[in-house]
Amino acid sequence: MMLKNDLLLRAARGEDTERTPVWLMRQAGRILPQYRALRGRLSGFKELVETPELAAEVTIQPVDALDVDAAIIFSDILVVPEAMGLTYEMVEARGPLFPETIQNAHDVARMRIADPEEHLGYVLEAIRVTKRGLNGRVPLIGFAGAPWTILAYMVEGHGSKTFSKARRLLYTEPALAHELLRKITATTIAYLQAQVEAGANLIQVFDSWAGILPPHHYHEFSTRYIREICEALPGVPVTVFAKGAFFAVPEFATLPCRTIGLDWNEDPQTVRAVVGESKTLQGNLDPCALYGTPEQVQHATIQMLRRFGPQRHIANLGHGVYPDTNPDNVKVFIETVKEFSTLAREG
Ligand code: CP3
Repeated sequence: MMLKNDLLLRAARGEDTERTPVWLMRQAGRILPQYRALRGRLSGFKELVETPELAAEVTIQPVDALDVDAAIIFSDILVVPEAMGLTYEMVEARGPLFPETIQNAHDVARMRIADPEEHLGYVLEAIRVTKRGLNGRVPLIGFAGAPWTILAYMVEGHGSKTFSKARRLLYTEPALAHELLRKITATTIAYLQAQVEAGANLIQVFDSWAGILPPHHYHEFSTRYIREICEALPGVPVTVFAKGAFFAVPEFATLPCRTIGLDWNEDPQTVRAVVGESKTLQGNLDPCALYGTPEQVQHATIQMLRRFGPQRHIANLGHGVYPDTNPDNVKVFIETVKEFSTLAREG
């Protein structure tokens, strides 16, 4: 199927584009009234994630409502630990919870390397249904959590400011941590390859808890597994988004990935100077900029675009859009990217 709008893929490959492509992390769910209406009729988050027709509907909503240049499959990074044997619950207004967690060697031994079709078939089916529904309008982004971030949830059992149980494991039982990371990585590689076979055009790896590790631990327990994932997806455009990992940018420059995602703490020109011209950068408007007036949103967006320059940039926020963001301001952000980046090329 030929894509009618392939700006995202061309920007990721480093080709010149007539304007900067734009999408938002966490655009599916969270902000749209259409999402809330559908969500309200269901038993919970997992019913939505595990019913391919509904997941596809929610994936396509922001393409219809916001005119973004990409769809991202509606799922969660926590489906991977569940496929390995650790069930999660999504607690209303609180977030994810694992009733059982990983504590010792026995727990790690119990985790299986999941088979994508058998254990994650509902995501693959959602991708296939979404591709039919999109009918080539925009590319579809598949995703997974980075192994370190997945380990953090499996050991901690829920969100945390410090993830001190997970970080403790890296000091007290490094060999056990590596054993778990190897299993997560093997599962993730097979899962992402299956997502591409099902129709995902680009893969994003989310390392949401990168920023809580010291650089030497990040190198030892995270980047090397992200590298393995990139190496296992030759020819697939991969985006690595590691929140808070400014210290890892020099190493990210050597990864076999196309795009590096920047959070809002990072300065695009500084990152560009370190990375060179070989990669595309994604990001990085502070999600809080979307709380302003339309004029303020426009101003902040143009400032951000100027810092990246016109080419080799995929416009996005520096992290997921916040749930109480006004969708009208999201539209201002998207329209400003499209208009300003077109004008900037005309000089
Ligand atoms: O980008 C998209 O819109 C696609 C869907 C998507 C979800 N989660 C749906 C979701 C994606 C890409 C994710 C990734 C994810 N999930 C990450 C990495 C990105 C990041 O934000 O750093 C992480 C850390 C998670 C784990 C997770 N899932 C948490 C901490 C929570 C609770 C808080 C929240 O709302 O984000 C979730 C729940 C979740 N995942 C919701 C959605 C739409 C809200 C649940 C609901 O609608 O009831």
